Amino acid sequence: MNKVRIGIVGAKFAGGFHMDVWKTIPGAEVTAVADLSEEARTAFRKKYNLAKAYGDGTELIQDPDIDLVDICVPNFLHAKIAIAAMQGGKSVICEKPFATTMDDAHKVMEAQVKSNGRFFYAEDWIFIPALQRMEKILNSGGIGDLFFLKGKEVHNGSHSPFAKKIEYCGGGALIHLGVHSIGYFHKLFGMPEKVTGFCSPGGDRNFIQKDFEGEDWGMGVLHFKNGVKALIEGNYITTGGMEDIVEVYGSEGRVRVDITFGSPLSVFSKKGIDYAVEKAEFTHGWTRPAVDENESLGYRNELAHFLGVLKDGQEQMQGTDAQSGFNTFRIIDALYRSNREERTISLI
Ligand SMILES: NC(=O)c1ccc[n+]([C@@H]2O[C@H](COP(=O)([O-])OP(=O)(O)OC[C@H]3O[C@@H](n4cnc5c(N)ncnc54)[C@H](O)[C@@H]3O)[C@@H](O)[C@H]2O)c1
Repeated sequence: MNKVRIGIVGAKFAGGFHMDVWKTIPGAEVTAVADLSEEARTAFRKKYNLAKAYGDGTELIQDPDIDLVDICVPNFLHAKIAIAAMQGGKSVICEKPFATTMDDAHKVMEAQVKSNGRFFYAEDWIFIPALQRMEKILNSGGIGDLFFLKGKEVHNGSHSPFAKKIEYCGGGALIHLGVHSIGYFHKLFGMPEKVTGFCSPGGDRNFIQKDFEGEDWGMGVLHFKNGVKALIEGNYITTGGMEDIVEVYGSEGRVRVDITFGSPLSVFSKKGIDYAVEKAEFTHGWTRPAVDENESLGYRNELAHFLGVLKDGQEQMQGTDAQSGFNTFRIIDALYRSNREERTISLI
């Protein structure tokens, strides 16, 4: 296969950065976009000079000139569009999370087993250069035996109106942001034996984000078979820009990865600059502007890898298959149950 013909479903935030990355990858050809909003799809089509634009994502998947459907719509639609695309024999990239209900998650797995297409679960943390370097250090024994990890993604609240409703998002900050550290730690250690979750109650009982039905703070402990414990967090109560941090503690040392504020740039500006980091409220005073978030957050490596699998037969990276997406969602579902029932939930 010389070229992979791609249709992007969802023309806003995630659709935009996927498109910006696809433009830079040889052999990737985005031929169409779909968005229910006419304004959004028309602007996207014009900006990127695309041949076709559709309304609903289920229309785009009928297009015979598309090999790969790149799903960048709100969480509750991931399963529906992925299943329809796989039934049509297309390959699929599914943005996080895998699904919003266990029922949907099972249906995606059933469709995937019967499909001729490939399924790619898009957990970008697996492709973050700094975390890939960290893994080499861990694998070389550089910090000895591992026993404790921490991973978090936190900011001041999703920009997407869909993220405010549990029906559309599947929960709150835990499923939306905690999903990254959970997916990444699952890639490192497999399925935890048991999990314990804690969340703010949602709605007007949240700490800050009263207009989010789901929790604005979620935390969990994952207990792995090898004795390793991991603390994961997602929250919408953090000011000053999106903060993604991983820490690993070992018998001979430790690692701390500052994914979003670890920029080599420090800028002081009296009037502010064009952009610093995702979700930063303002850019005047001291900032640590990202050099290139598509690179530092792993998006470029991620999409280039998926294309390499389809085009050049590369072996698919661990943590990106349907089973990994399913398992990650199962952990999230168990963390929510743990919080509701105020007990640790076994996953064995
Ligand atoms: N990996 C990451 O770091 C990352 C970052 C941001 C978003 N995401 C994921 O990407 C997905 C989209 O998030 P977003 O921030 O771009 O949301 P968004 O609200 O900015 O955009 C979603 C778009 O989907 C469109 N849409 C809704 N239903 C549709 C349908 N049936 N067919 C076609 N289009 C439809 C909406 O009109 C909207 O333009 C979410 O699942 C989110 O979790 C991942």
